[in-house]
Amino acid sequence: MQSKETRTILITGCSSGIGYACAHGLRERGYRVFASARKPEDVERLSSEGLEALPLDLDDSATIRDAVNQVLSRTQGRLYALFNNGAYMQVGAVEDLSHTVLRAQLETNLLGWHELTCRLIPIMRNQGYGRIVQNSSVLGLAALAYRGAYRVHGPSPATMPPTSPGLRRILSSRRLDQVLTWTSDSGRR
Ligand SMILES: NC(=O)c1ccc[n+]([C@@H]2O[C@H](COP(=O)([O-])OP(=O)(O)OC[C@H]3O[C@@H](n4cnc5c(N)ncnc54)[C@H](OP(=O)(O)O)[C@@H]3O)[C@@H](O)[C@H]2O)c1
Repeated sequence: MQSKETRTILITGCSSGIGYACAHGLRERGYRVFASARKPEDVERLSSEGLEALPLDLDDSATIRDAVNQVLSRTQGRLYALFNNGAYMQVGAVEDLSHTVLRAQLETNLLGWHELTCRLIPIMRNQGYGRIVQNSSVLGLAALAYRGAYRVHGPSPATMPPTSPGLRRILSSRRLDQVLTWTSDSGRR
């Protein structure tokens, strides 16, 4: 059984879907959940549902920094887990995807993830424990037509598998853990 101190988690992308379900699900299981969302109305809604909600837009460094500071100020500088979940999919034939939309997706799905993770690794390293969960996709293992951009999806396909083993090796040498999930279709429409 984990101590109360180690049952804290920051989740990105809690406005809907997996992030929303995990925020409520983990809270029901006794975790102290910091549920983040990028839109103010979603932060307000999550708060009204009893969650500790805060703004975090992966495209905006200031909100990443502020969210991390806010969480740490409420937990005496400690955090057990980060769930990198926030991201978005882009449907379309590869030949139709402009650099502009691909760059925007990389900003959110890869660089935002990277920035947030890098802010929290030193905290976890110093406290001597921690877990980083990367919500990847089964599409990292299997290709689908019109889902080409999904393979440049941050916490997933093309980018995570190459970077994850390296990160895990570094973290495990310091008793930190990284989990990579290969989520399949949740069936939500
Ligand atoms: N559902 C599946 O079957 C499935 C399968 C494989 C992998 N996944 C992965 O699971 C994760 C969640 O997917 P989901 O199905 O739950 O989709 P979803 O309901 O669309 O949730 C995506 C979340 O990411 C947030 N997000 C988007 N851009 C963001 C940004 N710039 N900063 C912060 N948050 C941002 C969205 O916020 P807004 O509401 O503000 O846009 C939303 O809260 C994604 O990484 C997805 O690729 C899902």
